[in-house]
Amino acid sequence: MTDIFDPIRYEGVRRPLLDAVSLPPWCYTSDAFYRREVDAILTRSWNLVGRVDEIPNPGDYRVFDLCGRSAIVVRGADGEVRALANTCRHRGTRLLDDSGHCRAIICPYHAWTYRFDGSLSGCRGMEKTRGFEKADHGLAPIRLGIWAGFIFVCFSDESPDLGTWLGDLPEQFGSYRFETFELVRRRHYDLDCNWKLYIENAMEDYHTPTVHRSSIGLQETDLIETVGEWDSIHMESEDTMAVLPGDTTPFPHVEGLEGRPASGDSFTVLYPTTFFGTTKDCMWWLQTIPDGPRRCRVIQGSCFPASTVARSDFGEHVGKYYRRWDKSIPEDNAISERQQAGLESPAAASGRLSVHEPVVHSFANWVLDRTIGRS
Ligand code: FES
Ligand SMILES: [Fe+2]
Repeated sequence: MTDIFDPIRYEGVRRPLLDAVSLPPWCYTSDAFYRREVDAILTRSWNLVGRVDEIPNPGDYRVFDLCGRSAIVVRGADGEVRALANTCRHRGTRLLDDSGHCRAIICPYHAWTYRFDGSLSGCRGMEKTRGFEKADHGLAPIRLGIWAGFIFVCFSDESPDLGTWLGDLPEQFGSYRFETFELVRRRHYDLDCNWKLYIENAMEDYHTPTVHRSSIGLQETDLIETVGEWDSIHMESEDTMAVLPGDTTPFPHVEGLEGRPASGDSFTVLYPTTFFGTTKDCMWWLQTIPDGPRRCRVIQGSCFPASTVARSDFGEHVGKYYRRWDKSIPEDNAISERQQAGLESPAAASGRLSVHEPVVHSFANWVLDRTIGRS
């Protein structure tokens, strides 16, 4: 194949939406393109780890793995949430997996022991080692940012801070007061598709009358203006979109919604890998974790206002929301894997885009800006 990093090959993607084509198939199948994305995008961006309410107590932790990097996100004795490199300062062993609670971070190899701020507190057997100072051997910090109860990490020290990355997203979504929400359920899915296909699907309404014909059905959205590394499409609606048509729910709308959040629902991508679905009474997120060009893991979190979770009838009615997500998300998963299968064909080629796919187009260009640059 001729050079896949030559900007000339992407001129069609660079045109305005209604003149443009989609990214070429190799952007979803090539190891070389994926490696470029890892270096230029994935390890340089802010990625959603989860919620502060998932780790409420000192010693509660969650491990976040992305493209060979690993962070321990842990709440300290002082209440602060920090991210630490998940690699022992003795001879490099991975320290923790998944999530849980610990009294200290103890290496499973020779039991070096770290406090939740990363400092080394115990290292038996090192007494005779010349010039060894515990203070020099703490776990490396990783950049962490919190917005409205959502925890993000970034594996690069050179990227802009989280506030710059988010731009005016906190302002546009401020009236939800997500900091008063709680995560009630996490799900994950391992998929045979490129991570970008998943985000593209989540950010266009063109597929809804076909892929979701027996669940949520047609959704009609408009692109909104944003500042920062995000895009969003908005759909007018009177009530929640997080239950199936015909299901009703007694849960109240979020109090004090203003502006666009008061008039409907939003589908939002925080580039590159995080999606938020926001509606009148709850929100959900999808975090894609790329694993090579042809695989990704998708983690879904469901959040409701704490006041709704505290209702005596919450358990009775939340199942309607789970039914909706557990029907529509597998529909999106299946079509994304099917799209990947088609893109593997030697006959696959870039295709023209519709007026319903503005974020597919802007996402492609966001990716190209960082991986290829302009000719
Ligand atoms: S590698 Fe961790 S204590 Fe030896
Ligand atoms: Fe969908």
